[in-house]
Amino acid sequence: MRFRNPGAGLKFDHPPSIAPSINNTDARSEGQIEISAQAAVGNPAADITPQSPSEQMNHEAAPFTIGTPISQPHCFFGRHRVLKRLFNLLKTHPLQNAAIIGQKRSGKTSLLNYLKRITLTSPEQLRSGQKSDWLPQPETYRWIFVDFQDSRMASQERLLNHLLTAMQLPAPNPCNLEHFMDVVSGNLNSPTVILMDEIGVGLQRCPELDDSFWESLRALATNQTGGNLGFVLATPESPVDLAHHTGHSSPFFNIFGYTTTLGPLTDAEARELIASSPIPFPEADIEWILNQSNRWPILLQILCRERLFSLEEEEVGDDWREEGLQQIQPFIHLLGA
Ligand SMILES: Nc1ncnc2c1ncn2[C@@H]1O[C@H](COP(=O)(O)OP(=O)(O)OP(=O)(O)O)[C@@H](O)[C@H]1O
Ligand SMILES: [Mg+2]
Repeated sequence: MRFRNPGAGLKFDHPPSIAPSINNTDARSEGQIEISAQAAVGNPAADITPQSPSEQMNHEAAPFTIGTPISQPHCFFGRHRVLKRLFNLLKTHPLQNAAIIGQKRSGKTSLLNYLKRITLTSPEQLRSGQKSDWLPQPETYRWIFVDFQDSRMASQERLLNHLLTAMQLPAPNPCNLEHFMDVVSGNLNSPTVILMDEIGVGLQRCPELDDSFWESLRALATNQTGGNLGFVLATPESPVDLAHHTGHSSPFFNIFGYTTTLGPLTDAEARELIASSPIPFPEADIEWILNQSNRWPILLQILCRERLFSLEEEEVGDDWREEGLQQIQPFIHLLGA
């Protein structure tokens, strides 16, 4: 088996201590190392780590983010209990696997992004009091983000290349499942967490990701990596149901010992999000926003954006409320949950 140069022209995440070269100070503080600015288009191992346009351009973040998942840790609010449970599974050995279940727009991708970044984000880049010391040795962890909505991840070869690149292991040629298993087995020496977003898409639309692919991943996690490999999935339904519906029999979907369903934020968490407005809101408006949003983060974000806009424009009256109620219509399914 021959090896390709696994990292040429790529950007990927790994502990800063093993970084070959660093040319981005923001990224360095978060363990995200840019090897080269060259675009990775067409490269099978291209990283698909979500990065917001404002991060790429170094723009100031908007006070409220709606639509795109939260990628900057200081813009992420709440989920304290879920984070505690997840990091408890990941800070002990062997790493344990978790599934995050959530309706559309409930905050799944934002949570995966946060898991990946929070422990290596410096306090200056966080809100005051925001917890980041979830892991005893965060710099030893590797976080690998796989978004199955990215069509490149439907190709088994590209997905395996992506995993190997992020693990800093050489890519064999051909990069098939057998060779991948040879390279990874016994060679994963630091804790590695694979974050899988929209795994249902992987199961439904990617015939190359068949039962033997998932069974191999399970074998890696359970027997071949000395407890150093863990998975966190985000999905609209439970992994076992998902496998069942999509005609997969793979026991991979039975290894998720902890499952949590995303709900609204707590009252205190929702109030913290509202209080992040650069112009404080009147108390009556805060109560109205809490009631109308039922503390779902996306609804809070929309209503806060509308209130902030009306304050910035020095509008009088409650027209912003009407506008806000219209703007939350596409996400109203959350209120039925
Ligand atoms: N913890 C959070 N703090 C602040 N805002 C959040 C948080 N979680 C989600 N949001 C808000 O909700 C929106 C949707 O979040 P996200 O994209 O993560 O949801 P999702 O469940 O992955 O959605 P989809 O099902 O469409 O993939 C974000 O754009 C943001 O406005
Ligand atoms: Mg998502």
